[in-house]
Amino acid sequence: MKITLYMATSINGHITKGQNDTSWVSESDWDQFYSFIKANDAVIMGRKTMESFSSDEFPIEGAFNIVLTADKNLHKETEKFSIRTGNPEEIVTFARKKGFSNLLIIGGEYTNGQFLKADLIDEIILSVHPLVIGGGLSLFGKSDFDKKLQLLGTKEINNELVQLRYKVLKNS
Ligand SMILES: NC(=O)c1ccc[n+]([C@@H]2O[C@H](COP(=O)([O-])OP(=O)(O)OC[C@H]3O[C@@H](n4cnc5c(N)ncnc54)[C@H](OP(=O)(O)O)[C@@H]3O)[C@@H](O)[C@H]2O)c1
Repeated sequence: MKITLYMATSINGHITKGQNDTSWVSESDWDQFYSFIKANDAVIMGRKTMESFSSDEFPIEGAFNIVLTADKNLHKETEKFSIRTGNPEEIVTFARKKGFSNLLIIGGEYTNGQFLKADLIDEIILSVHPLVIGGGLSLFGKSDFDKKLQLLGTKEINNELVQLRYKVLKNS
C-alpha cells in the first residue's frame, strides 16, 4: 500500500483563502491533480472537500472516491464512491479490502492532519503557487505533532508552479 497526499498551496502554506476559496488554484495545477488521480486506485477526502466539487465534478473520475463523514445520514456506497466514517487506520483497511494499493489523499486540512499524525502518509506532493495568502486553512490544520521529511525531487511547471515531492520519514 502506498499513500500519497497531493495539495495545492500558497508559499505560506495555505490551501484556501478564507474558509473555502480555492479560485486561486491554477489550470496547470488542476491538470496535475487529475493526472495524479488517474495514477492512483482511490482518492480519500473529507466531507467538506467533497462539497467543494460540483455535482458534475463528484465523484471525481479516474479513481474510486472515499469520503469521510461522521454523519450517518450521508453514508452511501456505490460502484464509484463510498461515503463513510472511520479513523485513518480503518479507512486504509477498507481500501485494502477493496483491493486498492495506491491511495491519494486530497484534503482538506482536517483530513490531511489526521492521516499524517497517524503516520499513514508515505509521500507528500505540493504544488506551490506564487502567492502569499493572508489567511485560510493550512496544509495540516492546527497540527500538534512534528514530522521529518526527505526531499525526493522538485519540478517547475509552466514557469509558474514549483512541485515539491517528499518522503515522510515514519515515526520521526
Ligand atoms: N488547495 C488544495 O489543494 C485543497 C485540496 C482539498 C481541499 N481544499 C479545500 O479545503 C477545504 C476543506 O478542508 P477542511 O479541513 O475544512 O475539511 P475536510 O478535511 O475536507 O473535511 C472535514 C470533514 O471530513 C469529515 N471527516 C474527516 N475525517 C473523518 C473521520 N476520520 N471520520 C469521520 N469523518 C471525518 C468530517 O465531516 P462531518 O463534519 O460531516 O462529520 C469533517 O468535518 C475546502 O474549502 C476545500 O476546497 C483545498
